Amino acid sequence: MSLLLGVFSAFCLLGAALSQDIPYEDLLAQIQGCPAECYCPRNFPRAVYCDNRELKRIPKIPPQTMYLYLQNNVIETLSMEALSNATQLRWVNINHNRITNEGIEEGALGASKLLQLYMADNLLTSVPTGLPHSLEQLQLSNNQISRIPTGVFSGMDRLHLLDLQGNKLADDAMTELSFEGLGSLVQMNLARNQLSSMPPRVPPTTAQLFLDGNSIERIPSKYFQGLPEVAFLRLNNNKLSHSGVPWNVFNMSSLLELQLSHNLLTEVPFIAPSLEHLHLDHNRIKSVNGSNICPVLAEALEDNANVPKLRFLRLDGNDIPPPIPRDVVTCFRLLRSIVI
Ligand SMILES: *[C@@H]1O[C@H](CO)[C@@H](O)[C@H](O)[C@H]1NC(C)=O
Ligand SMILES: *[C@@H]1O[C@H](CO)[C@@H](O)[C@H](O)[C@H]1NC(C)=O
Ligand SMILES: *[C@@H]1O[C@H](CO)[C@@H](O)[C@H](O)[C@H]1NC(C)=O
Repeated sequence: MSLLLGVFSAFCLLGAALSQDIPYEDLLAQIQGCPAECYCPRNFPRAVYCDNRELKRIPKIPPQTMYLYLQNNVIETLSMEALSNATQLRWVNINHNRITNEGIEEGALGASKLLQLYMADNLLTSVPTGLPHSLEQLQLSNNQISRIPTGVFSGMDRLHLLDLQGNKLADDAMTELSFEGLGSLVQMNLARNQLSSMPPRVPPTTAQLFLDGNSIERIPSKYFQGLPEVAFLRLNNNKLSHSGVPWNVFNMSSLLELQLSHNLLTEVPFIAPSLEHLHLDHNRIKSVNGSNICPVLAEALEDNANVPKLRFLRLDGNDIPPPIPRDVVTCFRLLRSIVI
């Protein structure tokens, strides 16, 4: 029986090695090099699991490791030593630990080919410097970050996702240079910070901009001219009012979804005909004049090709008496759902 099992596991080992193109000796070294504190599954030989183990430091990681799981420990430092041989690392999850900026050794990650770094729920006070230029996703939510050092993102032109939600970023943390270097950013998440203004110079490639739960009061009239790709814009739970929001500031043909719930708006802003989702619930809107907000002239509406694309509209939590105004329905003929 044990012989059979032995043969079987050797076979699995070899199978896994072949399927991932790792030389057999490397695979053996990887498995033999598995830190005593961790678990290295044979059928996923590039991964090392060291999560949920009350670890205080990062164990010595075997050189072939690509995926490293360190979440839910009490690790305080990201040392050069621990990761220096793991030059193949692609993916590090060190969420929910006690990493501070001081605890990140110079060059600890810099030379790697890391694509994804998850460092949420730690004790960072500043965006760490010396991040690898190969990064595609950087998750830094729920730290205490109040600083973005100038130049910290320079050269990071592969980064798609930057998640800084749940930090302590205020207006003075950001300058025109803060996001310089992020040449292919797609998602910027600055929700749940302490902003009262829109962040300056968000990279023009940004398609998803999340700013919920700040104290933003106004939007400069030309703000979105610098953001021609924005499709998903979330500004729920801010302090936007009629005087702070230029009437046609959201007239952007790229926009598909606009969320403005829980603000202080008293009017429906003008939208582009291409917008599909609009959330305006829990504001202070008293009435809706469909002909005023209709992005298409009444004559042009006759041609179906011109009908605005709006499909979903929330207006509940305002002071708008039912029924839904006729001119709203006449204009937004594709509406599938309207909540008043
Ligand atoms: C890195 O590799 C060298 C040479 O194989 C070895 O002596 C050293 O202990 C390794 N360091 C770590 C942190 O694994
Ligand atoms: C909205 O944008 C379009 C295209 O840029 C422009 O032609 C139109 O005049 C704008 N409408 C308003 C009300 O700003
Ligand atoms: C909507 O606004 C237009 C133009 O300002 C006005 O002529 C019309 O009477 C208004 N409609 C309603 C129902 O108040």
